Amino acid sequence: MTPLTAEMTEAATPVLRRRNALKSESPNSTPYHEPVLLGETLALLAPAPGKLFVDGTLGGGGHTEAFLKAGAQVIGLDQDPQALAFAGERLAGFGEQFTAVHANFEEIGRVMDEMGIAGIDGALLDIGVSSWQLDTPERGFSFQSDGPLDMRMNPDAPLSAADIVNTAPEGELLRIFREYGEETAARRIAQQIVKDREARPFATTFDLVRSVEKVNPRRGRAHPATKVFQALRIAVNRELEVLDAALAAFSARLNPGGRFGVITFHSLEDRRVKTFFKAGSTEWLDRPEWPAPRRNPDFQFRLLTPKPAVASEAEQSRNPRSRSAKLRVVEKTYVH
Ligand SMILES: C[S@@+](CC[C@H](N)C(=O)[O-])C[C@H]1O[C@@H](n2cnc3c(N)ncnc32)[C@H](O)[C@@H]1O
Repeated sequence: MTPLTAEMTEAATPVLRRRNALKSESPNSTPYHEPVLLGETLALLAPAPGKLFVDGTLGGGGHTEAFLKAGAQVIGLDQDPQALAFAGERLAGFGEQFTAVHANFEEIGRVMDEMGIAGIDGALLDIGVSSWQLDTPERGFSFQSDGPLDMRMNPDAPLSAADIVNTAPEGELLRIFREYGEETAARRIAQQIVKDREARPFATTFDLVRSVEKVNPRRGRAHPATKVFQALRIAVNRELEVLDAALAAFSARLNPGGRFGVITFHSLEDRRVKTFFKAGSTEWLDRPEWPAPRRNPDFQFRLLTPKPAVASEAEQSRNPRSRSAKLRVVEKTYVH
């Protein structure tokens, strides 16, 4: 492991936000975000003294705190400055053992280069929004409360959800709702939005809820705008694209024996992780037209979770968010 020195920290400025420069802008709601699958994550990633971990989704710092308590050194990334501020303050007591970095996790290669770090021993991505982001109406993630139609995890990102809803061609809205929301009424919702935005641009989350409800009236337990909100959030934050980039980038930076875990909350993401991990942990490929099996050039992992780890019943009843969580973990066995 490469030790993390003050010079490396300095060299990485301006991407780095050091703990002591952070101010908590977040409400002191406790818990900020209950870490999901915490016991399973610790058992599978095995943080320990002498190991360097990257938490690509720092959030409220729940998983990172557990890694730090186990003795690992941790670099925590988040694209949301409010999350960084909160976690930075919360974990300040760990001193040099912890460094917070404002970055998208797809930028892990650049961040590590700027810090002078070649390899890591563990990494975690706990994808999606935090409970705090979801429960803060001003961030615009929730259809349950009225707020600006924003949904950017990184407030400096170029496009908000309102920008997309107000300007994207109908065909693009259709694609977003269909591909990222698997919304069966995608076409009618896209048409309704285009009609409504001619009368008045969309500004708030409830503006969007009202349009969706014209097509999908409320019935049953699921809110009719659930899939449309999920789809827009994925589009605004380029969530599938950055996940694909991050799977490759984190894998490339793992030391032999290093472990990489990804927690997902819906099938669009889980499918990508499952496929990537399976492709990397298959040593031999065979096809009927080949005379003999061939070695897989992408072989690099041992798959530690043939079936994903899911939350226990106790966790599911304590934290409903954990119900859809799936954790998949690989260990780097082979460095190309
Ligand atoms: C589910 S929360 C993580 C919670 C954290 N594991 C904990 O225990 O508190 C996800 C966090 O990751 C951040 N995030 C999501 N996608 C990101 C990305 N592509 N790059 C950096 N941060 C991201 C979000 O801003 C959010 O704060």
